[in-house]
Amino acid sequence: MITSVTAFAPATVANVAVGFDILGFALESVGDKVTLEKNLKSKEVNILSIKGLEGLPLDPQKNTATIGLLKMIADLELPYGFNVKIEKGIPISSGMGGSAASSVAAITAANEFLEKPLNRTELLIYALEGEKAASGAIHADNVAPSLFGGLTLIRSLEPIDIIEIPTPSLFCVLVHPDIKVETKYSRSVLKPEISMNKFIQQSTHLASFISGCFKNDLDLIKRSCIDFIIEEQRAHLIPGFYEVKKAAMDNSALACSISGSGPSLFALAKNEKEAAQIKDEMIKSFQNNGILKLDSWVSPINKNGSYIIERIKK
Ligand code: HSE
Repeated sequence: MITSVTAFAPATVANVAVGFDILGFALESVGDKVTLEKNLKSKEVNILSIKGLEGLPLDPQKNTATIGLLKMIADLELPYGFNVKIEKGIPISSGMGGSAASSVAAITAANEFLEKPLNRTELLIYALEGEKAASGAIHADNVAPSLFGGLTLIRSLEPIDIIEIPTPSLFCVLVHPDIKVETKYSRSVLKPEISMNKFIQQSTHLASFISGCFKNDLDLIKRSCIDFIIEEQRAHLIPGFYEVKKAAMDNSALACSISGSGPSLFALAKNEKEAAQIKDEMIKSFQNNGILKLDSWVSPINKNGSYIIERIKK
């Protein structure tokens, strides 16, 4: 019998400039870990510990890692509960898909205990529960790539239709200025309507970006990965946004925009060497804008999504 499972789920960059709420990709190495221990005595979910971040709720009804787990136990009428240990590798309110990753890691681990494991699309439904609570809206642009890996396009959630887009072997630079921007707030600043012109401009760029990915055409990706709608409405939430973006683009980035709902910025680079240079220039630019506390990563696009780190049997 499996008694304990630890799963890892990667951080994500979602929107990817062109596809607000419908496009995201996962990163390597940075992410959250969740360990579930089977509790045969009760169907309850108890959070035993949260490492790596302070101030997250221990109430399983309020923590994004466990909200989906509670629904899974209820829906599948599981005769057991879980003791949960969470290790956060993703900073809070950073625009790196932290709520989604915790939720995905927990659901990935829970699947190992099931007599009939669910497929990834079925798991997505439970993982989305946590994300819904965190951001106040259902959008799978973080959850889907964290679970599936790669670059994912969410065509529909009812019914669920996730399209996996081939990913050119690009490197992602992610720079996180140590300020918090809550997703709910970052969504509240967006106007509910857009003009026909912007709609046309963004549609052509999304279509061209996806074409560039299928054709492995880096120049087309560069010409297309531009956000005409959301970025300008959120830029004021990030000190020095336009300067940091310029620093990335002046150093041969293919694209640079807000990661998720901010405040992190991502840039795409052709290779690891250019990525390292872009990262250094983005950090310098943030520092020139008074942001001295930063985290940063360079990562290829993760192709596999969440995975099991350890299974303990008795
Ligand atoms: N796409 C969301 C937003 C964040 O930009 O508000 C990630 O789900």
